[in-house]
Amino acid sequence: MTQGVRGTRDFYPEDMRLRNWLFDNFIAASLLHGFEEYDAPVLEHEGLYTRKQGEEITKQLYNFQDKGERKVALRPEMTPSLARMVMARAGSLPMPIKWFSIPQCWRYERTQRGRGREHYQWNVDIWGTTELSADAELISVIVTFFEEIGLTSEDIVIRVSSRKVLEEVLGSLGVEGDLFAKTCIIVDKMDKLSSEVIEEQLSDLGHSSEVIGKIQSVLGIKDMSNLVDALGKESAAIAELTTLFDLIDSYGMSEWIQFDASIVRGLAYYTGSVFEAHDREGKFRAICGGGRYDNLLSTLGGKDLPATGFGFGDMVIMELLADKNLVPELIGGVDDIVLPLNQDLRDIAVRVAAALRLSDRTVDLVLEDKKMKWAFKHAERVGAKRLVLLAPDEWSRKMIKVKDLETGEEKEVSLKDL
Ligand code: HAM
Repeated sequence: MTQGVRGTRDFYPEDMRLRNWLFDNFIAASLLHGFEEYDAPVLEHEGLYTRKQGEEITKQLYNFQDKGERKVALRPEMTPSLARMVMARAGSLPMPIKWFSIPQCWRYERTQRGRGREHYQWNVDIWGTTELSADAELISVIVTFFEEIGLTSEDIVIRVSSRKVLEEVLGSLGVEGDLFAKTCIIVDKMDKLSSEVIEEQLSDLGHSSEVIGKIQSVLGIKDMSNLVDALGKESAAIAELTTLFDLIDSYGMSEWIQFDASIVRGLAYYTGSVFEAHDREGKFRAICGGGRYDNLLSTLGGKDLPATGFGFGDMVIMELLADKNLVPELIGGVDDIVLPLNQDLRDIAVRVAAALRLSDRTVDLVLEDKKMKWAFKHAERVGAKRLVLLAPDEWSRKMIKVKDLETGEEKEVSLKDL
């Protein structure tokens, strides 16, 4: 039994170093924009996810009955937990809320490159404002993160649209509410399924061929001037997108952004702006995705609060960095290795290690009877900066031998000077 459950990952120390590096960059971009970290349990009431619009995420739920016969589920995403937390303190939280988190999420997915059954998902959300400045700020968080890790707008495109585009087109044909959400969920699968299957699913929803044709023609639009032709100058969706693109421009992020009407997102709750980051070469699935969801609280039995946010997984981004040779080489890095050269010197080695640790140096105290040769190899492996040796001769003069592994310099120092 060396294999874990299918679709799950082990993180050996070398993997953990990379994961921590990634998370540190997630955290740095969030803090730079004034977000605060929160967390929630991985186990939630199943009812938090039983939305009925046919989303994949609800079919992929890891759910079971616990020993108290409660129906529970491992969270497939963080947004409902966040909504629950905000709802529980509605009225007492100062607005706007700007929170981030890096939860592990569980989905019973078909495993493939960049998709597992668990993943870590950086979530950044703003609650309590309808201003598009919030949506632009989120995009700035994402762009800042990409820049931190060495990606540019030549590598990445963030495709932006608004659900209001399709809503306006279909609203005039009587497609609204749940039916509209269901339509978006099907449309979101356009890049995964053939057009015949999509058409079939849309007609199963009851859409006429006129409606299906309209959907297809609107989704093909990739620039704003064509959108104006399709929706008319008075369109609220266009006014909103124009404002958003102007804001994005004032951040100097325009080269990262592309309007794309085919972005609708596969979750039922989005109501306005929606976006996804993709690699420009189109080799990978979406790197991250998000948008505005102003009506989620009422679906959970609360009073609505406007909200916008995104989720950013840890898998596709690492695949992309590997593809671009941008994965950093990280070594463990302790400052000192302390080695007693015989067991009589162990006591003093313990004292030396303790003294070094008190002065904030990280210390790997060699625990067994080991030779110099082993210590050198070990030092190289763990990227140690110094080898601190307790040797009988030197210690008889109360001296400690210190070898600087970067310069090769060797010297004898007293415990006090160490
Ligand atoms: P989502 O599009 O389902 O959105 O997931 C967001 C991101 O999580 C994806 O773009 C991808 O990076 C990652 N992801 C999702 N599923 C998997 C998987 N099985 N394996 C690896 N990575 C995965 C949401 O979950 C929304 N709740 C995001 C959000 C937050 N919207 C507003 N606030």
